[in-house]
Amino acid sequence: MFPTLCWLAFVTVFVPVSNIGAEQPRTFESFAKPFLHHYCVDCHSSDTQEGNVALDGLVGVDVDNSALWKTIWEQVALKAMPPEGEEKPTLVERWELSTWITDQLQTAMQDRGGFHAHLKPDKGNHLDHGLLFGRIPEGLDPPSSPARLWRLHPQEHLTRLNGLINAEPAYDPKRPGLRTRGDHINPNEDGEVKVYYGLDRVIGWIGGTAAYAAAITGFPPVLTSENYHGLRSYADLYSVNGAEATQIANNAENILRFMAYGPDAEPYQFADDVREIDQKYKHGDLRGLAQSLFYGKSTKRPLTPVYDLMAEDGVTDERLVAAVDFLFESLTGRPPTKAETRQYLALVKDAIADLGKQEGVILGLAPIFLDRDALFRPELVEHGEPDEFGRIMLSGQELALAINAALSYIEPDEALKQAVATGRLKTREDVRREVDRMLTDDSFRKPRVLQFFREFFDYDRAGYVCKDTKAMLAAGADVKPQTHYRTMFNMTAHTDRLVELILNEDKDVLHELLTTDRVVFDPNQDAPYFGEFVSSDPPPKDPDKKNAKKASRRVTIDPAELPKGEPIHVRVAQVIKSAKTVRALTSLPVEQRRGILTHPSWLVSHTDAMDNHAIMRGRWVRERLLGDAVPDVPITVDAMLPAEPGQTLRHRMRVTREEYCWKCHQKMDPLGLPFEMYNHLGLYRTKEQDQPVDTRGEIIGSGDPDLDGPVDDALDMIDKLARSERVKQVFVRHAFRFWIGRNETINDAPVLQEAYRAYADNGGSMKSLIASLVTSDAYLFRKVETLRGQDRSATGSRTNR
Ligand code: HEC
Ligand code: HEC
Repeated sequence: MFPTLCWLAFVTVFVPVSNIGAEQPRTFESFAKPFLHHYCVDCHSSDTQEGNVALDGLVGVDVDNSALWKTIWEQVALKAMPPEGEEKPTLVERWELSTWITDQLQTAMQDRGGFHAHLKPDKGNHLDHGLLFGRIPEGLDPPSSPARLWRLHPQEHLTRLNGLINAEPAYDPKRPGLRTRGDHINPNEDGEVKVYYGLDRVIGWIGGTAAYAAAITGFPPVLTSENYHGLRSYADLYSVNGAEATQIANNAENILRFMAYGPDAEPYQFADDVREIDQKYKHGDLRGLAQSLFYGKSTKRPLTPVYDLMAEDGVTDERLVAAVDFLFESLTGRPPTKAETRQYLALVKDAIADLGKQEGVILGLAPIFLDRDALFRPELVEHGEPDEFGRIMLSGQELALAINAALSYIEPDEALKQAVATGRLKTREDVRREVDRMLTDDSFRKPRVLQFFREFFDYDRAGYVCKDTKAMLAAGADVKPQTHYRTMFNMTAHTDRLVELILNEDKDVLHELLTTDRVVFDPNQDAPYFGEFVSSDPPPKDPDKKNAKKASRRVTIDPAELPKGEPIHVRVAQVIKSAKTVRALTSLPVEQRRGILTHPSWLVSHTDAMDNHAIMRGRWVRERLLGDAVPDVPITVDAMLPAEPGQTLRHRMRVTREEYCWKCHQKMDPLGLPFEMYNHLGLYRTKEQDQPVDTRGEIIGSGDPDLDGPVDDALDMIDKLARSERVKQVFVRHAFRFWIGRNETINDAPVLQEAYRAYADNGGSMKSLIASLVTSDAYLFRKVETLRGQDRSATGSRTNR
């Protein structure tokens, strides 16, 4: 049934892209051994064995010693070894050894599932910042990216499917924050990201909102990515496995049925007004079932060629072709070739011959959902002449899809399609013209840009941090735990809106995000969280001891009372139709909070069930703002803080002060502890355990001498960081990774420097930054010859952390 599944065997391919021009192959004997003997073996011979590591017996990289080489790579790349006071290799020497090791590990591990650690987004900083932003080494090959199949982002896939069954509203310039066609799908109040069938047509149901939520059907994203922190969609890291393909095929059939017939319901469930429906159909036993929903009579879903095909009797080639072509273009973003139309037409005709029209059309069209190009964006440059470096510029549909995907989740707009059709999308200038056009057009939805900020900041995790109920109450939350999670999902949507607002202004974007006093605020829900935690007092003395069991600590908080501000619209979960979309755009007291890192959405995203997670926050600052990294936690370390109820987190974290731990933890802990001025729900506090809260921290070894030094609290630290040029460059590095879909290499230095100039010279303009990246060689050029690498099985390339 699914001939197109052949892409399963042809998935992402590893490509070492870290080459400085052509050069002699480096071997262990000629290269790595002299390095280790010069810099390391004094302390790491079989006799000395510092840290239980002996390096003098090594004879190259193989499966058995791969773990050791991985540590050597991290220690050398992150400048942890040799220790202070010893002779140090230069940055270039470190870089050369690092790339040699990771290249060797890739080869050595080929038959063991491969080596991908260095390809992951959180290892991007293993390449030294100074090398990328310093003087560019001579003789670099010009930048390009490997020819590749880039699997769609789960949100992108879901948004396209949503477009088939739900007619989303057009852009409303008067209320720019509202849900609009092409926007990403927000989680519902329970945190599920789902597309629903027939939501816009529901006029009533039996039971309360919980019953409604159970009755309405939909589907979540099928494609997965690591549900963790950081960038989540690298070209190299994901494929589509067999289970996902099956799931997509099942969804495809349901989607097609809905496209053809609308909601799956009995005739009595449709009415102009819910009062017209006979009482006998409204009995409580139906609660939560599909039969408990009532729909308006008028059709709201998009009426597509699939509908037309099913609405009339019989089948004609014309109708079939229209349905095939429409589906193909909606799902892949481009019109099918003649051969593709023929292939899918033949499939659907065969299915109709076997099963009759009703079932045949549904099963016959479903394979289009599994077309390679409906799940991957091909950047294969199969046509065109390589330049002297073996690079070919993307062209035609591949180019159109690539620049469209820089901003959008749905198919290219008319203007871009026209540009391809009339041969006006060939040069870098053409790309620039189209990207500028799309960037300045507010009605052109840019969920991809918002997604970058979600992944860069990780403020969208707050609702997913499972809280201990007692710890939550003690920190000042509402008595109903659900309310907390709902508020967190809403606050994420509020932060989304603030990000979009700042993007629209396009001035000093990063600085503004880090320091703005503005906030999108719902006084009903958010006030406690943006407020102040005053005290937690022991239960009142109960002379009769009657209520001894019930008595609990009394928590006093001072909810935020912010100026009224102006109304602003936000996108909220679509499942409950009555959900209000108006919020207040107002300002926060600057002596308590400044910028996104002080908003509960970000703060709570970096907590655990019981308390703040200062290590995680510090790690965030280290990686995302300082452009540095910390080697992975050694497996021998029991990474647990002592459980000491009633002690401050800072006190419990004293264990990481041990010398062995501190060499890593000094890079994280002192950057996370300044956020102790907020409790683990994000409430501001001046006291902790009845003592003045200790919010001191320190920036250590940032690489920018102006930054290093003690800080009083989070606000002091944020102000310093927001002013730093290095921090802006690191932001640009992350934008590079997100848009180019891989970690930067030394060859990308010119692209990064140019992107940074574009950002800085245009007053901190994100639009200029994106335009620079999307018109760069790294974005536009692919190298085909490198596609020789091993091919990884579809499931095998899924990464685990
Ligand atoms: C002056 C002595 C000295 C030199 C030179 C030195 N090391 Fe070390 N190394 C140590 C000590 C001491 C430890 C154990 C304590 C620690 O991890 O800080 C260690 C630990 C290590 C570890 C284990 C790290 C861990 O977290 O488990 C590795 C790997 C390592 N060194 C690699 C190297 C490499 C590669 C070089 C050369 C580039 C090098 N060392 C140079 C002293 C040295
Ligand atoms: C080689 C570097 C390194 C060393 C040495 C190290 N850690 Fe860590 N540790 C890390 C990193 C990186 C993380 C962050 C992990 C994350 O974000 O998931 C971490 C996280 C932790 C955490 C938080 C775990 C959690 O997610 O709740 C604790 C607790 C911890 N380390 C304790 C220690 C202690 C105690 C020592 C010394 C015995 C130590 N670590 C040594 C790198 C190190």
